Parts: sequence; C-alpha cells; structure tokens
Amino acid sequence: MQRQSSKLFTKVLIVGGGLMGAGIAQVIAESGVQVVLVDQSEAQLERAKQQIEKMYNRRHPEIDVQSVIKNITFTTNMEAGKKCLLAIEAVPEKMEIKKEVFRSLSELLPDNAIIASNTSSLSIAAMSSVTKKPENVVGMHFFSPVPIMKLLEIIKGINTSNETVEKVREFGELIGKEVIIAKDFPGFTVNRALVPMLNEAAFLVMEGNDPAEIDKGMMLGANHPIGPLKLIDSLGVDVLLFTAESLYEGFNDSKYRPCPLLKRMVEAGHLGKKTGKGFYNY
Ligand code: NAI
Repeated sequence: MQRQSSKLFTKVLIVGGGLMGAGIAQVIAESGVQVVLVDQSEAQLERAKQQIEKMYNRRHPEIDVQSVIKNITFTTNMEAGKKCLLAIEAVPEKMEIKKEVFRSLSELLPDNAIIASNTSSLSIAAMSSVTKKPENVVGMHFFSPVPIMKLLEIIKGINTSNETVEKVREFGELIGKEVIIAKDFPGFTVNRALVPMLNEAAFLVMEGNDPAEIDKGMMLGANHPIGPLKLIDSLGVDVLLFTAESLYEGFNDSKYRPCPLLKRMVEAGHLGKKTGKGFYNY
C-alpha cells in the first residue's frame, strides 16, 4: 500500500521509538520515504518493529510487511540520520529531555533541516530557543494510533517561519494525513477544546452522576461517537490529568482547574483500560 513518495524529504529522522515514534515511522515508511528510527534502547527498537508489524498486518494482511520495514533503519545511533532534512522528535513529554534532543539535532543536521516535535502540550517556542535556526522548528502533533487517526495538527511557534509550516503541511498531506494549523498555546486546538469537556464530564461523576448516563447523553444528545468517560478510560486517566494540569498552569486560569476526582483516581491506580479499572471496569 505505497502512497506517493515525497519529493520534499527523501529520508526522515525520528527520535524516540515508543508508541508514537513507531507509528509515525510506519506511516512515513508506508509512503515510500526512508526513515531512520532512533531510540536509546535496543529493546525498545525491537518493540517498535513488532508494533509496526502487528499494526500493518492487521490492516493490510494481503501485503508483505517487509515492503514497509525495509524502508526503516532501526538504530540507537542518531548519526545515521545526519543528512536528513526533516527530523521528528517523539521522546517523553518532558521539556529537559526535549531540549537536549533539539540541541543535539541542531548540531547534527544540515542548517536548512526542519526539526519538528510531536509534543501534545509543551511549548514549541521553548524547544526552538535551543536551536541554531528557530524558524525551522515546528510542531507536528500526530494522534494515536498514528496509522489510523487521520489528523495531523501542525503548530506554528512564535519563531516558526511560514515556509517551514508550508513544507510540513505538504509533507503531512503526502503521507496521507488531513492537516490543521494551530497556534503555539497550551493544548493547541484539539486538546484545548477536548480536555475541558472531558474534565467537566469527570466533575459530573464527582457530583454523583452515573458514567453510563453521561456517556449516553453525550453520544445521543451531542452526536459524539464515544462517550467522554469511555474516551478518558481509553486515553488514560493519568494522561488526561497531565494535559488538564498543563492547560491550567499554561493559562493560569481557574476555568481549566483539573477535576479532583481525576487526581484521586490516578493516586488509586485507576488509570482506565490499561489498568483494568477507570470510570468502568475492564
Ligand atoms: P513513549 O514513552 O512510548 O516513547 C518515548 C520513547 O523515547 C521511549 O521509547 C524512550 O526509550 C525514547 N527516548 C527517551 N529519551 C530518548 C533520547 N534522548 N533519545 C532517543 N530516544 C529516547 O512515549 P509516546 O507515548 O510515544 O510519546 C512520545 C511523545 O508523543 C510525547 O511528547 C507525547 O506527549 C506525544 N504524544 C503522545 C500521544 C499518545 O497518545 N501517547 C499522542 C500524541 C502525542
């Protein structure tokens, strides 16, 4: 299932081979572009390969997954991607780790290379500040699972040039994504609108409402394909709390106050589907 190859970038460096990095590597490799997937852990690279094989075989059982895997170099050595003109960072959501990676990429890559972050909440401006060419730094926020979710949210930081945005938009479309452009403020577009709604649904539960009733209400009354509490359970209660906290702190505004019930659930280990218990039991 090869899509049209990108003439813009013939080889893309991805740093961080976790859930997101592996997914991003897969969609880019599926479009016929070479990928260098870097992780600090060999074991993680093996897991990344298995994730790609499983995901691809499920969606394209008739095609040999090797047609995709052959486009990906799995390595712990970032030098392997030193000629790439696009790098996408997908390391853990911690500013110190991201800045360290951005510093190294800025030293390693050609001057005209674009460095993108898959962050879901951190400032693109802050990451750009440690690079030699802040105008070439941009957000490319993919959604999980990357091979299935259509959206790519591109974030234009204060330093990001229009040319950089246009290049990554074109590339995003070439790898089969629908693109939206967002400003660099906490939550960007999707999480800014979604997270307060999910947080409010948690407040409804805290006030004694039944999760199943709330979900039914939002599905039938607001035409949502999935109820907010089911969605929180599948995203992870801890992930929602983290994003809600970053909106609250990022805007210094009490309207984003995270629901205390979310905090209690995280403390109790009720993280949703992944632990077998959240707003529902699994
Ligand atoms: P993850 O924890 O699954 O993967 C992170 C990977 O980075 C790990 O494999 C780790 O070994 C590697 N790593 C850490 N430091 C490194 C370094 N210096 N060099 C190379 N590799 C390094 O995390 P996940 O879920 O893939 O998230 C990555 C980024 O994507 C985060 O910024 C997150 O906020 C964002 N994101 C996550 C979504 C999700 O649903 N999980 C959705 C959208 C964005």
